[in-house]
Amino acid sequence: MSRTIQAIRGMNDILPHETPSWQYVEAKLRDVMASFCYQEIRFPILEQTELFVRTIGEVTDIVNKEMYTFADRNGDSLTMRPEGTACTVRAGIQNGLLYNQTQRLWYIGPMFRHERPQKGRFRQFHQFGIEAFGFAGPDIDAEILLMGARIWQTLNIQNKVKLELNTLGTKAVRAYYRKQLTDYFTANFELLDEDSKSKVNLNPLRILDSKNPALIEVIAQAPKLLDCLDEESSQHFEGLKRILDATKLEYEINPRLVRGLDYYNMTVFEWVTTELGAQNAVCAGGHYDTLVEQLGGKTTPAIGFAIGLERLLALVDSNCVKPNSPHAYLAILGDAAIAKSLALAEELRTALPNLHLMVNCGTSNLATQLKRADKSGALLAIIIGENELNTNTATIKFLRENTDQQVVNLNELPTFLARITLK
Ligand code: HAM
Repeated sequence: MSRTIQAIRGMNDILPHETPSWQYVEAKLRDVMASFCYQEIRFPILEQTELFVRTIGEVTDIVNKEMYTFADRNGDSLTMRPEGTACTVRAGIQNGLLYNQTQRLWYIGPMFRHERPQKGRFRQFHQFGIEAFGFAGPDIDAEILLMGARIWQTLNIQNKVKLELNTLGTKAVRAYYRKQLTDYFTANFELLDEDSKSKVNLNPLRILDSKNPALIEVIAQAPKLLDCLDEESSQHFEGLKRILDATKLEYEINPRLVRGLDYYNMTVFEWVTTELGAQNAVCAGGHYDTLVEQLGGKTTPAIGFAIGLERLLALVDSNCVKPNSPHAYLAILGDAAIAKSLALAEELRTALPNLHLMVNCGTSNLATQLKRADKSGALLAIIIGENELNTNTATIKFLRENTDQQVVNLNELPTFLARITLK
């Protein structure tokens, strides 16, 4: 026997019993997008590698060690998208969506990062993201935070997530702060671990979100960005906090929240949960006001977030998800009834577009077909045999209630099914 082939580590199949939960969550997300008037954008899974190097940043973990990058047959370096923000900006500029106009966009789909797989962390995972262009904020910041809260509420997980908020200030503030941090960590170099030592000059902000308990003290003593804010940055942050307070959206300021991608400035945030162990961020985002210009567009303020769908699904109670069971199962007795029954099934689907009708395939006796009908989850079985063919009727057997079976004339079957199954 030949060797069976396994999926790639960290890349999961989403199986038929799991897809109803995905469809449920996706439908809720689409509803929220419609209610906020955001429009869907779809972009390719493969992009030129340079797109991510120039946006996410060369000294970030993603670009440094996590991208699925390869040369295609022409020798061009391509990368499977590790996130959607850079792709949205690229598509927006290329298609003239961002020039002198505003856009409110959303996307959904698989992303790829070569991380060490563990609970809540995969190599192929799915993001639902939104990006808003042309709004400086802080009103747009509040809009997308309220949108996040509405998503949690719609999925009934509002008690499982909390909002952490920080500001990175303008690019100038960030540059100033970065210098302060480099000086501080250089002076305390011996207290750092190897990973942090390598970041002192390249990306000192990332040391702040180190998970190493040995660094808690040295990080606690480090200069705080909130103490370095200029007028513009403070006004933006205070303005946002005022709106959030007025709309009663709860948040916690986390001065160590710096984000792992380089393009952020001003407001950054994460919605975190205590239910997923180390991978606690369900949703993350912030402003990236220089990215459009950096990729060749006109200076355009921008903000967005992305939700990790595997993490979101882990929080949603699957009891509220209806399985995709058939309403009715069509049992067919004898070869003579097959063609007539399939024609009947088509008539029923035309008459009742919302009817979920499973037709028995593979000749077998009534008991076997009724067992299959029961296993399918159908509410009732429609039986067509010789008798029914001769009298132009169908026998209805109720599978979930103790009611006598019933004979229904085929002309009346659509009305009967509409009443019984599509309540
Ligand atoms: P990110 O923090 O890299 O940000 O990812 C956003 C979310 O995607 C995370 O909070 C997490 O829920 C999920 N996620 C990330 N990596 C994995 C993984 N390996 N396995 C499972 N889930 C994962 C971004 O991607 C930015 N583009 C967000 C953004 C949009 N900022 C502005 N606009």
